[in-house]
Amino acid sequence: MGQYAVYRDKRVVVTGAASGIGRQAAEFLLADGAKVIALDRNPSDLKVEQFIAVDFTQPETIVAAVKKIDGEIDVLLNIAGVPGTLDPEVVMRVNVLGLRLLTDLLIDRIRRGGSVTHVASIAGAQWAAHLDEVQRLLATPDYETGVAWVKDHPMDGKRAYDFSKECVVVMAKQQGHWLRERGVRVNTVSPGPVQTPILKDFRESVGPLLDLVTRETGRDATATDIARVILFLSDPSLEWLNATDVQVDGGFMSGLVGGWVKLG
Ligand code: NAI
Repeated sequence: MGQYAVYRDKRVVVTGAASGIGRQAAEFLLADGAKVIALDRNPSDLKVEQFIAVDFTQPETIVAAVKKIDGEIDVLLNIAGVPGTLDPEVVMRVNVLGLRLLTDLLIDRIRRGGSVTHVASIAGAQWAAHLDEVQRLLATPDYETGVAWVKDHPMDGKRAYDFSKECVVVMAKQQGHWLRERGVRVNTVSPGPVQTPILKDFRESVGPLLDLVTRETGRDATATDIARVILFLSDPSLEWLNATDVQVDGGFMSGLVGGWVKLG
């Protein structure tokens, strides 16, 4: 990754940079010569250009964080996220509403040729089946009305996680369309299970289906497997790759489509 050199001197905002996939992406970017601005609720142990503490459950910390970022940026990587073992409103605040607010606040500062990559999940793969509900949440104009919508539509933690990732996939398709003329691409990466600290929470909330994914594919992904794809998608030279979702799951989802993986 150090020889990739497409990110040399690029200014890249990475959320979730303190752990797991976000930390790995930030490490690759630093090795490639990028100037990394790390946002997380926990401090980063990497030698980044700037670390800014933010809590995506608290919108005022997102507004304050954006004020601390000077000038233009090239790439935004929205990687921070929480599992369905947490309170459903927290899941929606972090995975969707905070991600959306940060993106909205930074969008005018992304240079032409730049990109935004959100991390979704194969848990969000059923977005088309729930498109009406997803679009209703995404139609809320801001963070607080989004929270009000969530309070009016109670879900359990597992459904809140799946729904949050459905929202992220659809949001990227909308944003990619809206921002096309500005020369800014927006895509999602949807991992299957990844060996990071939150995998144990996913095993708890998802149950045997996750074991099936691991059994069928032979192993869980590493953070490296996923970070490489995030950086590939965000590469400024990939001008024609926009508003799409890339599943990085060792081929598990194709097994469902092909019928050779059976659920239940
Ligand atoms: P992780 O737990 O290692 O990293 C998540 C990061 O998000 C942490 O640094 C954490 O401090 C930060 N974060 C959490 N809540 C926050 C908040 N309120 N404010 C600011 N920062 C916050 O987990 P991992 O696996 O690296 O997760 C990265 C993304 O990948 C998440 O969006 C997750 O949903 C997604 N994902 C992970 C999978 C897995 O099996 N690990 C599978 C599919 C998707």
